[in-house]
Amino acid sequence: MRTTGARCRAGCRQRAARVARAIGLVAAWMMFVPGEIRATTPGRFPDVAAGQALIQQKGCANCHGVLGSGGRQGPDLLRIARGKGAAALLADMWNHVPQMVAALLTGERLPALSAGELRDLVGYLNFVNYLGDPGDAGRGGAALAQMPCLACHDLGQRGKIGPALMVSTRAASPVGLVTDLWNYYPGMHAALRERGLPWFAWSGDLLTDLSRYLASLAPAGSPAPLLAPGDPQEGSRVFARIGCERCHGPSGAGAWAALLRRSNARSAAENGAALLGHLPAIGGGAADALRPLSEKDMADLLAYLSLAGTEVPGGDARAGREVFARDRCGTCHALPGRKPGIGRDVQDMPAIGDPYDVAALMLQHARNMKTATELKHVPWPQIRPDELLDLYAFLASQPRR
Ligand code: HEC
Ligand code: HEC
Ligand code: HEC
Ligand code: HEC
Repeated sequence: MRTTGARCRAGCRQRAARVARAIGLVAAWMMFVPGEIRATTPGRFPDVAAGQALIQQKGCANCHGVLGSGGRQGPDLLRIARGKGAAALLADMWNHVPQMVAALLTGERLPALSAGELRDLVGYLNFVNYLGDPGDAGRGGAALAQMPCLACHDLGQRGKIGPALMVSTRAASPVGLVTDLWNYYPGMHAALRERGLPWFAWSGDLLTDLSRYLASLAPAGSPAPLLAPGDPQEGSRVFARIGCERCHGPSGAGAWAALLRRSNARSAAENGAALLGHLPAIGGGAADALRPLSEKDMADLLAYLSLAGTEVPGGDARAGREVFARDRCGTCHALPGRKPGIGRDVQDMPAIGDPYDVAALMLQHARNMKTATELKHVPWPQIRPDELLDLYAFLASQPRR
């Protein structure tokens, strides 16, 4: 159920996407205000443009601000979404149902979202935080002065050992800086080792601060740095092509689902820092498939890391059964062979295909469920993000009548 783009599907939305990416997002990041996002993410990635529209359409903005503008009763949606993955956002919404219901005026209802709408909305909240903190040029300059970078590099011209840091404007975006460091790692690592220096401890903040500082040095009229988010679908192909699956496949050391769930909660700069951080562990060979990556490859890969986790199901049905018992869901939703409660029996619930189905169903019924919990003197069930995934696995595993 999409609310936008019915007539103007692929072609013109993609054009609009390119334009908005080139202009809107660059300016948006600079001002730290998300512009209108029109990225079309095909397949099972959320449609973040639709998600953005839903915040208005569904009335979330009546109570919640979106970086300043909007209601004041609930917290600012973009601020609370920072550093959180999809499962955490769904659990937050659920856990705060009593407060949300209390904020409703008489006759008002909590907005109902379909599973698809919920996916898009959560995808948007994930996505606007893609670039993370905008960084600070002053902090970046100070960091550069403290680190040994300038022992080898000069800013404007070739340094004693390394190339100029500002040979291109690439380094003026965190994604470009990560790309350069990734591609030049073997040579830089060798130069560091000769001097007995370790590889650096990268962080998202360090990368954004450094790129912000380098951006402030760029001569007027330089081409704009790449700030637009990449395409997660393309990023999934880069991930496979360059062999990340060797170790992050389902049976690898850093298993795939767990990796994506963690990286889903991070900004692109933070994921870039994680990538750079484990370069010594994954090998510096210049000949392997890992490099060179184009800046677009890197942007796509980082978008994939940021967004793919919105789709990772995971969850453990047995652990879900325990959550179901602990939260006394069974008081009102009977399992087979038990006396029916005041909610629907589990075997009469609609079929459930992914965690968004469960979250959407629960939220749609939240108001009546809240009344029922008050009648039955059951406290409002608080659910951790991993428990929501477990509940999904449990409810999906139960037979239907
Ligand atoms: C009638 C007002 C109202 C509406 C409408 C509303 N909310 Fe809320 N929301 C609140 C209040 C109040 C809180 C709880 C604030 C608190 O506990 O500090 C809250 C909490 C939340 C939280 C958890 C915040 C946290 O601290 O972790 C999320 C996420 C959230 N709302 C999302 C939404 C979304 C998405 C929509 C639209 C589908 C929506 N809300 C609609 C009032 C509302
Ligand atoms: C020990 C010397 C040394 C230090 C210290 C060093 N680098 Fe480098 N760096 C190099 C060398 C050598 C290369 C080029 C490698 C090659 O050509 O393969 C390089 C390449 C780079 C590049 C790619 C440049 C391009 O042309 O795109 C960037 C960006 C970079 N370094 C940033 C940094 C930063 C930031 C620091 C500090 C945190 C740093 N370097 C510290 C030696 C160093
Ligand atoms: C040789 C095996 C190997 C390869 C190849 C590899 N990784 Fe990793 N990666 C690991 C291990 C092991 C960890 C966990 C180590 C740690 O936490 O320090 C990790 C950690 C990470 C992390 C962050 C830590 C987390 O789990 O939260 C990210 C992001 C990541 N890898 C992405 C990638 C991507 C993208 C590629 C492809 C370019 C890749 N990795 C290739 C082994 C590998
Ligand atoms: C005190 C009673 C009560 C408790 C406890 C309770 N529910 Fe409900 N639940 C209800 C009622 C009543 C409805 C139907 C509300 C409506 O029709 O709007 C409902 C609806 C639902 C639905 C939608 C089902 C459908 O067929 O559309 C799901 C899913 C659900 N609950 C899951 C849970 C889970 C999971 C728990 C435990 C975390 C839980 N409920 C705890 C009373 C309860």
